[in-house]
Amino acid sequence: MRLHTSTWPEVEAYLERSQGIIIPIGSTEQHGPTGIIGCDAICAEEIAWEGGKRGNILVGPTFNVGSAQHHMSFPGSMTLRPSTMTAVISDWVLSLAAHGFDRIYFLNGHGGNIAPVQNAFADIYARRALDGDEAKFLMKLRNWFDLPGIPELSDELYPVGCGSHATAAEISVTFAAYPQKEDCRALEPAIAPEGSISDRHQFRLDFPDGRIGSNPSQSCVADGKKIIDHAAASLVKDVDAFFKS
Ligand code: NI
Repeated sequence: MRLHTSTWPEVEAYLERSQGIIIPIGSTEQHGPTGIIGCDAICAEEIAWEGGKRGNILVGPTFNVGSAQHHMSFPGSMTLRPSTMTAVISDWVLSLAAHGFDRIYFLNGHGGNIAPVQNAFADIYARRALDGDEAKFLMKLRNWFDLPGIPELSDELYPVGCGSHATAAEISVTFAAYPQKEDCRALEPAIAPEGSISDRHQFRLDFPDGRIGSNPSQSCVADGKKIIDHAAASLVKDVDAFFKS
């Protein structure tokens, strides 16, 4: 069940049986020469939609532009300042809380979002404490690639060159979602360099084609379907436990 394709009476009825919601959260940033720019948002929403369907869980709109300043030397990348992102996440959560949602689960596809989202959580918890709000209200952030069983599946599919940006696993998920974008051409070097990130200029010097440590030439639609299937099953269990907490 998706919030965007539900009517308000349908949401009202959902709230009678559950006060939990999943929000997919991603980024709009380069993903190497063969990966699509919406990768992180698309991975999170594909897995959230599949999990939502299987578990009959409401899935909210995808938060699809994140904190990604280090990718700004590549055309098409977009970023929020971390402070903007924290403020917007807070307003999304407070909007949902106003209707009675009290378990907000963010399924994330981008490492750069973690700090701003956790800041938003701390801000909301602090506001509630200072306002003397006694009702239990919980938020959770989970990276889809850290869902139970997914690191093991990635290792099994890609023992070498899964990488840490434009990973073979995430590119496969986007190929499954958009098969017309499947692109397995060989890249040079096959496995991209590893390293740490700082500003956008240094990033492009260190990682000239945008990848970090990955070889997405091994990505394919079939692997993407397998990852979505396993991640959705794992997500339903994780969300269920969180909603019951
Ligand atoms: Ni990514």
